[in-house]
Amino acid sequence: MKQLQIASIPGDGIGKETVAAGRKVLDTACEVHGGVTFEYLDIDWSCEYYKQHGQMMPDNGLDILRPCDAIYLGAVGFPGVPDHVSLWGLLLPIRRTFRQYVNLRPVKLMAGVQTPLANRYPGDIDFLVVRENNEGEYSNMGGRLYQGTNEEVVVQNTVFTRAGVERVVRYAFELAIKNGRKKVSSATKSNGINYTMPFWDEIFAEISSEYPEIENNQYHIDALCARFVTHPDEFDVVVASNLFGDILTDLGPAIAGSIGIAPSANINPTRAYPSMFEPVHGSAPDIAGKGIANPMGQIWCGAMMFDHLGYQDCGDLVMRALADTLAAGTTTADIGGHANTMEVTEAVCRRIKKLAGSVPS
Ligand code: NAD
Ligand code: IPM
Ligand code: MN
Repeated sequence: MKQLQIASIPGDGIGKETVAAGRKVLDTACEVHGGVTFEYLDIDWSCEYYKQHGQMMPDNGLDILRPCDAIYLGAVGFPGVPDHVSLWGLLLPIRRTFRQYVNLRPVKLMAGVQTPLANRYPGDIDFLVVRENNEGEYSNMGGRLYQGTNEEVVVQNTVFTRAGVERVVRYAFELAIKNGRKKVSSATKSNGINYTMPFWDEIFAEISSEYPEIENNQYHIDALCARFVTHPDEFDVVVASNLFGDILTDLGPAIAGSIGIAPSANINPTRAYPSMFEPVHGSAPDIAGKGIANPMGQIWCGAMMFDHLGYQDCGDLVMRALADTLAAGTTTADIGGHANTMEVTEAVCRRIKKLAGSVPS
């Protein structure tokens, strides 16, 4: 029996509810598989922790996470602590220190889920967004001068490195090949942003030429957003900078039914450091503590974590159970259902047990 160590960081708001739900599903899948178990390292870093300690995590926080096999995180950020303080104190340092330079975010309209788009059905919306996750617009570099005066000036730098752009664009093409996808689309804004964006376009063109079998397209981000709504069926793999990828991956889940179902994997492809699995959504302060959050984004992240850790059979099992649960209409209010977080979670666990007889372990 293989035992893997997973750092479990529920964080803030609904993160506490969705991580508890996700862990039930992970444990059920491990149980029926029989060859792997997760030992959790329970971590309480959050905005509450900040209020007690004046920081989001201890000084040696990243050293605590480094030896783990993976990190399973809920959400970070809650009213009462400024978002840039909470996020730069916990989530963003993890992504950067552990070189999780790929943020992989599948967007898929599942059977049983309504899209707000007319005449679109499962199969029409099914693409993978590869978001650059370590640099770009999230540079943490800049400054503010003459604060509070009418001469005040604020600058935030955007940083692209050749190595950083090349590796994420190449990952997108390799992902297309691995998944039998035909096309990679890139999002920039090189008409208005005249250094970084033409640089990205140039590198995208260079790397594209190494993959003649994969079609490639470049879009301006504004036009691409519109295209997601009017022609979502055109996309296979989409690669974008940190900020553009962030925006596209709230828009994508919105057309695929709900952000509550959207997963995200912060991947260090070299495996030198742990990768982190967290849903796309945040702490949802408006519904936190009510037990009604959709746990499916967190559960789907669990499936991606199994795949990453080499237990694809467990990942497939979780995804089949999730799809069956959705198709049967056991859903939370954000996708039109009447079930609460735990009812959905238990329904997924029941299906895992039911399906288990038919999967190899
Ligand atoms: P949010 O994703 O938390 O919420 C946006 C809307 O979607 C809300 O109406 C919320 O109720 C709904 N929603 C989100 N997840 C849901 C779920 N699982 N089930 C049902 N409904 C759901 O975005 P926000 O309000 O912009 O951010 C709230 C806080 O979370 C902020 O502090 C923000 O910085 C933080 N945040 C953190 C992460 C992260 O840790 N990865 C991601 C996004 C936002
Ligand atoms: C996400 C979130 C984060 C991001 C925020 C909370 C810093 O929106 O994971 O999509 O922009 O990366
Ligand atoms: Mn986001």
